[in-house]
Order: sequence, then C-alpha cells, then structure tokens
Amino acid sequence: MSAILELQDVSRSFGGLKVLEGVSMSLQPGEIVGLIGPNGAGKTTLVNVITAVTPAQGGVIRFAGESIEGLTPDRIAQRGIARTSQIVQPFPRMSVLDNVVAAALFAGGLRQVDEARTFAMEQLEFTGLARVANQSAAALSLADRKRLELARSLAMRPRLLMLDEVNAGLNAAEIDGALALIAAIAARGVTVLLIEHLMKVVLNACSRVAVLHQGRLIADGAPAAVVADPHVIEAYLGRRYATRAGAAMSVGSTA
Ligand SMILES: Nc1ncnc2c1ncn2[C@@H]1O[C@H](COP(=O)(O)OP(=O)(O)OP(=O)(O)O)[C@@H](O)[C@H]1O
Ligand SMILES: [Mg+2]
Repeated sequence: MSAILELQDVSRSFGGLKVLEGVSMSLQPGEIVGLIGPNGAGKTTLVNVITAVTPAQGGVIRFAGESIEGLTPDRIAQRGIARTSQIVQPFPRMSVLDNVVAAALFAGGLRQVDEARTFAMEQLEFTGLARVANQSAAALSLADRKRLELARSLAMRPRLLMLDEVNAGLNAAEIDGALALIAAIAARGVTVLLIEHLMKVVLNACSRVAVLHQGRLIADGAPAAVVADPHVIEAYLGRRYATRAGAAMSVGSTA
C-alpha cells in the first residue's frame, strides 16, 4: 500500500534550538499511529510543520504521493490534512453548528451554505454534539469542546487527521467515548496520528507507535515492542513503568 503521508529527513529549528532533526516516517491509509515523547520533544512542532504553520527548514513531506512544500496552511487543509490543537480554539461567539459550517465551507469543498449546514449537522450527529448544535461554543464543557474540534476537523473531509492531546483533561468515561469516536473515524478510512501522553490510550488505540525525543525519532513500531525498548524507557517511560508494563499490557490498563 502506498503511504498517505511520508516524511523524509524533516528538520526545524527555532533560533539555535533544533526542535526537529532528521525525522523520517510514513503513515498508511486508515492506520491509527501514536506519537509519544516527553514535554518539549517536538510533537506539536511536527504537526505544525506538516500543516505548514511553521514550515520545515529541511527534508521532504509528501501527502498522497505529492510534495506539499511551499503550500500554505489553508491549501494543505483543502488537500485533506486536518488537525486539532492542544489548546482548544473554537470561535466562542458562534454556535456549535456554525463553527462546523465554517470548517465545511473553508476546507470541506462545499460552496453552498445549505449543503454545508446539512453536512455539518451530520458531523455533529457523528460526534455526539447534535444536542448542543445551537448553543454557543463558549458554553461547552471541555469534553464537548474537544468533540467540537473533532467535528470541525471532520467537516474538512480529511484523509489525515492529527489529534494533539485530545484526551488531556478528560475523565475515564469521556476518554472511552473519545476513543470509540477515533476508532470510528479511522474505520471511515481516515488516517489518524494521535499525540498522547496517556499510555493506556496509546496501547489500546494504536496499531503503531512512534517516539520523539529531543527532536529525533527514537522508535517506530508495534506498541508492545516500543514500550519494551530500552531507549524509550530511558527517554520517556521511566523504569517504574517498565517493570509494570508486561502485566499491564495483558490486562489492558496502565499509567
Ligand atoms: N514558535 C516557537 N518558537 C520558539 N520555540 C518553539 C516554538 N514552538 C516550539 N518551540 C520549542 O520547541 C520545543 C518543542 O516544542 P513542542 O511544543 O513541539 O513540544 P511537544 O513535544 O509538543 O511538548 P508537549 O508534550 O509539552 O506538548 C520546545 O523546546 C519549545 O519551547
Ligand atoms: Mg505539544
């Protein structure tokens, strides 16, 4: 199968600080890939580089077989790459529905407002937000704001969706709901890159896990192999995790 996203030797610095260095990886259609690593490892920057919010300074990024070098963030969204932000930023004064309509018009390929409303409403139903469609976005709970981020992203009809800590701050039941939704999104054929600190979520949701440490990819493989990798334990998981990991993998719950 040919990759939907391919990174080759991607780099980015801020001032003298190399935040991404020689990052190469590829994502296949319909995969859910976890991206983990310590605070400051470069995870959000990688998403910003792929979406050209902060363009790469070296390397090649191909989406659906074509280089996306030089494209603006809005062009990249229109090509089919969507992302949620670590800090949730809806248009607070607009209704939940209008937030999603705006995304459908911006990057979902829809021109007619009526069509966009119908399509946006379908995304609200899919994400469980139809009940709050007419509320202002500012009135939503954190869990619903995160769902709104997903609904807005889906309204852009993405082929690749990058989720930056969508579960942060959610309780266990809300996380289960979000994971079911993410699985349903992938089942529609959307490739998902899931940036996540909760290892339980990573191990349950992802078929593959990549690990960033100080801007370099130090592991990329099956979750069980990655969490047992001494470099990953050293850089991120810690020894205490490692001693529990074997047992936790088999019962499906961990830190
Ligand atoms: N626009 C910027 N200007 C200068 N430095 C930046 C900028 N964006 C990120 N950095 C720096 O790049 C490094 C990586 O940051 P990044 O936000 O990508 O990490 P992260 O892996 O997402 O961390 P976290 O898990 O805390 O979200 C940090 O040292 C950060 O301070
Ligand atoms: Mg981040």
